[in-house]
Amino acid sequence: MTAAHAVYGRPPRELAEPARGAVQLSPLIPGSQAIEDVEAGSLESLVILAPPGSIERRYVLAQGLRAIRPDGSLTVLAPKDKGGSRLAKELTALGATFEETARRHHRICVAGRAAELALDEALQAGAPRFSEALGLWTQPGVFSWDRLDPGTGLLLAHLPPLAGRGADLGAGLGVLSRAVLAQGAVTRLTLVETDRRALDCARRNIDDARADFLWADVRQTDLAAGELDFVVMNPPFHDGGAEDRALGQTFIETAAGLLKPAGRLLMVANRHLPYEAVLKRSFSACHLLAEAQGFKVFEARA
Ligand SMILES: C[S@@+](CC[C@H](N)C(=O)[O-])C[C@H]1O[C@@H](n2cnc3c(N)ncnc32)[C@H](O)[C@@H]1O
Repeated sequence: MTAAHAVYGRPPRELAEPARGAVQLSPLIPGSQAIEDVEAGSLESLVILAPPGSIERRYVLAQGLRAIRPDGSLTVLAPKDKGGSRLAKELTALGATFEETARRHHRICVAGRAAELALDEALQAGAPRFSEALGLWTQPGVFSWDRLDPGTGLLLAHLPPLAGRGADLGAGLGVLSRAVLAQGAVTRLTLVETDRRALDCARRNIDDARADFLWADVRQTDLAAGELDFVVMNPPFHDGGAEDRALGQTFIETAAGLLKPAGRLLMVANRHLPYEAVLKRSFSACHLLAEAQGFKVFEARA
């Protein structure tokens, strides 16, 4: 990739304005370029809204320092309580020189590219890897990257026989999809996921001609309505770090729209989330399949 200016994420404009025409590098924004593909020392400017997870953040900072030109400008910012207060220490450890300011609960560091960078450890720690414990390809920063999510585990334990064409909405590393595709009567499964890193891992975790992979926001896909026999999902309830119940509710409405008449939704959710009303409204029937460890598994019929 040979752009001159880039941005990672959506930094608040009043705190850091990316250059005009800056190319988006966040893996959470479908269609963006991968920061890993930026040629070393090629960017004139880069603004990074640093992610909250510390391994992921150090990896992104190291990628940013790798990508920036020696005379380029790297601006990194984060809310103080979501990694911002650690930025200075982390940039120093990577060998960068910078100036730090504080504004509107954010820390903002403007770094130059130092002569002696020490990026290898951070790049390695944040890279995709095969986890023996999970038996899956995974990457720090991806949902539940180093353990099986208990909600997902509960749905796996109660997954009924499925058949025909289906989708896994918010498929993550592909844990649910693997269990679905273990069923011979399933003819096709579309994994929809907004995190490109998770989807790249899912491609490595699932070697099955019946699977296809869609890097997209579930709220904006062009999947055909009314064609699926089933949908499985453990919907997200965070968007950009903040709890967003509407997102899970939209996943439910989207699932209802994708299903054929009498098609089935199998979903798990945290017990405290208010999904019953939207399930009842969007489906002709809905019942609780299981409840344990703070999670509920629902089966609904379109
Ligand atoms: C609770 S996780 C479940 C992941 C996986 N299905 C599992 O059970 O381990 C929700 C997933 O939805 C993805 N996601 C969040 N918002 C999304 C959106 N608007 N469209 C598609 N996927 C989204 C997240 O990146 C995350 O991987």
